[in-house]
This record gives sequence, C-alpha cells and structure tokens, in this order.
Amino acid sequence: MQRNQAEALTKKAYNDAKKEWNRLIKRQTHMLEFQTTLHYLEMFLPRKGRILDAGGGPGRYSIYLAKKAYRISLLDLSPENIEFAKKQAKIEKVIGNFDEFMVGSIHDLSHFEDNTFDLVLCTGGPLSHLAGSRNRLKALKELERVAKKNSYLFVSVMSRWGTLSVPYPKAHFEIRRTKHAIRLISGEDTMWKQKYYTHYFTYDELLELFSKVEGLKVMKVIGLQGLTGTWFERYIRKFKNDRKAWKNLMMMNEMVREIPSVVDSSRHILVIVKKTRKT
Ligand SMILES: C[S@@+](CC[C@H](N)C(=O)[O-])C[C@H]1O[C@@H](n2cnc3c(N)ncnc32)[C@H](O)[C@@H]1O
Repeated sequence: MQRNQAEALTKKAYNDAKKEWNRLIKRQTHMLEFQTTLHYLEMFLPRKGRILDAGGGPGRYSIYLAKKAYRISLLDLSPENIEFAKKQAKIEKVIGNFDEFMVGSIHDLSHFEDNTFDLVLCTGGPLSHLAGSRNRLKALKELERVAKKNSYLFVSVMSRWGTLSVPYPKAHFEIRRTKHAIRLISGEDTMWKQKYYTHYFTYDELLELFSKVEGLKVMKVIGLQGLTGTWFERYIRKFKNDRKAWKNLMMMNEMVREIPSVVDSSRHILVIVKKTRKT
C-alpha cells in the first residue's frame, strides 16, 4: 500500500479524538504505557526550551509538558485530534505555551528548521503507522534533523511479539485468513482489525533502524508494559485489593523492563536516543 493511502486510513482510524484523549488514562495497560513514559521523560527533560510532539494526537504529553512551561509544537495527521488539543489546551489554560498546532505527517517536517527542538517526542506508535520501511527511515531522519545537538528523542512503537501475544482471540478474523496471519507473524506491514495500517517492530529491528540514522546514540530501550505486558488487565483484577503485591509487581516491572526479551514481549517499545551532532 502507498504511504498516502495508509495515512488516509490512519487519519480515519484516529478521528475520534475524545477516545484517543482518554486512551492513556482509561485502560490500565495504556496507563502503564503513559506512567512509564512519563517516568523516563522526567529523567531526560531539558531544563527549558522547545518540544516537538510529533504524532501527538489530542495532546496528552503536550499539555503535560506545557504545564511545565516548555514551548510546544504539536503535529498530528488527524485534524480532529489537533482541534481537540487546541480546545483542551484552552480549557487547561496552557494555550499560551503552544507555538503550533499543526496537521501534518512525521514523514515531512520541512515546516521546521534543522536543530530546532530541545526534545522530540513521537510516542504511541506514529512510526508504526507509516507504510514502508523507507518511509519510516525518512521519518526518523526528519525527527533527528529537527532536534538540537545533545537533545533527546523519545520514539515509541507497537511491538510485534507483545501485540500478537495478547489479542489472538480478538484477532480471530485476521488470523483465519492464512495470508494475513503469515503477514502478521513475519513482520510485514499489515492491517489490524481492518482499521489500523501498522508495522509491528521487534527489538532487533528497531536497533537496526536507529543505527541507519547518523548521529543518533541509543540510550535506552524499554518495554513500556514490562513483565506484565500481555496480561496486565488480568493482573489488575487479581491484585486490585492487595496494595503490597501491587507495589511489588510494579517494582518487578521496573527491574526488568529494559531486558531485551522483556522489551520484546511488551506491547509498546520506547526507544530513547540522543542526537550527537549538529545537522
Ligand atoms: C496511538 S496515537 C498516539 C498519540 C500520542 N502520541 C500518545 O502517545 O498517546 C497515534 C497517533 O499517531 C498519529 N499518526 C499516525 N501516523 C502519523 C503520521 N504519519 N504523522 C503524524 N501523525 C501520525 C495518529 O493520528 C494518532 O493521533
């Protein structure tokens, strides 16, 4: 499928901005994705400056960061998400900290000059939704280009093994079509539930992709759902009245979420890289 056809599908799939706004705080697996990303963000945030939230959807991270007085540029493919973010930023009284609300693709960031941002985010899978490995590499080069020397980039994507090991029952329709099942398991770009055009990454594949962009040094690779990746909802049901067990579970997650096999079995993978040169 061509990139622009895939982008049209992605736009449609994400046109419910309210649903996307609630995603990171409603379902517990996504809450863990959010909390873990924030944990690492706090470790790598610059003292001040400009942040690009690329593929930032309705702006959960943008608004969080605007409240900390950073200058934010939010870009997303979906006009509905961008409109929602604008309204939400007004409601939360941080609109003044936004430099831009822009509808666009991470594939082409020519609107922004080289070496502009003190931090670049591309979280929750925008890179996974881009069709074709060449386009994904181009987007990554764009994200690198607009970042300043010595700044960090946070890129999170959907994981192949983590994703496939959860929703087999949910994905009954995909799996009963043999060709499709083979595409899913062999890591070709594919449609999920006939709605999301997606590429699911493995740990090794991500490292290979990042190694193709000059000037990026991988700092950390994290399985955002850690050990509990695939069965998190079940853990919650089982542990919800036992604070001690819950605390220990979170501690266990924290101890192992950077181990490659755990990273691969998590549903989302976060890569933190440092830009080591001036473009
Ligand atoms: C699951 S949401 C993640 C939103 C937010 N970054 C987060 O971490 O919660 C994926 C977002 O990526 C956007 N997206 C997908 N492909 C994109 C592209 N090529 N360029 C810009 N945004 C894209 C979608 O419109 C959607 O808002």
